[in-house]
Amino acid sequence: MKSLTKRHGDNLYPALFRAQFGSHEMSLDVPAGVWNPTPHGVHLGNVLAEVDFSGEHVLEIGTGCGVHALLLAWQGAARLTLTEIEAALLETVRHNFAKHKVDTPTEYVVADWVHIECGPFDTVVTNPPFAKSGKRYRRYFIDTLILDAHKLLKPGGRLIFVQSSMADVPRSIRMMEECGMTVGILGESDHEFRDYYFEDPTYLLEMARLPGAYDVRGGLHFERLVAFEARLPQ
Ligand SMILES: C[S@@+](CC[C@H](N)C(=O)[O-])C[C@H]1O[C@@H](n2cnc3c(N)ncnc32)[C@H](O)[C@@H]1O
Repeated sequence: MKSLTKRHGDNLYPALFRAQFGSHEMSLDVPAGVWNPTPHGVHLGNVLAEVDFSGEHVLEIGTGCGVHALLLAWQGAARLTLTEIEAALLETVRHNFAKHKVDTPTEYVVADWVHIECGPFDTVVTNPPFAKSGKRYRRYFIDTLILDAHKLLKPGGRLIFVQSSMADVPRSIRMMEECGMTVGILGESDHEFRDYYFEDPTYLLEMARLPGAYDVRGGLHFERLVAFEARLPQ
């Protein structure tokens, strides 16, 4: 787990994550080394709890503790494919599925981001790394997701993901439209900065240079979280 801590920073402490999304309640065990859901994940969860996935084969990339995977199952997905970068990480979502008695047919796949052999899928869902992406080019996971969505999705399939204003929302919309997708916004919400943003001066400097990255109100910094639903052409 040491290497994971290095790759993803300090959001990997053990916790019990209890939450309600729409009518769905969950209590997830999050061991050390697995990503603890942040406001990004909670925002995406609130949005997913209102989306109908009936009959769909849905891929979630970077499933973490399974917060979104559970919602996909409860919102009707017929089949799930869940990925993580290391096999050990997939044990947590297996455990949380068993704990909540989820019996949706599910494949657990170790894969490096969009390099996924199975599919194509009806819908792809993800909360891409950004602030803690570990990449010099922080948008790496967002850009590759958008550019390779056509390899993962069926024609007419949809891509649902969350990102911050700090990751440049207009740029994502432009890229998706340039790739021929029809872009919609499922939900937006404002959140105060995570403490770890202030621990990375390079990050803060980059964000200060991006117009519209954040807002300062009453001495507090707020980012805007946006959940997209983008559809490929038929
Ligand atoms: C921002 S976290 C989101 C986790 C979870 N979906 C949530 O919202 O709480 C990103 C997830 O992607 C995984 N991840 C990081 N790099 C990856 C890669 N190259 N391929 C697949 N997953 C990766 C991390 O282990 C982590 O679980």
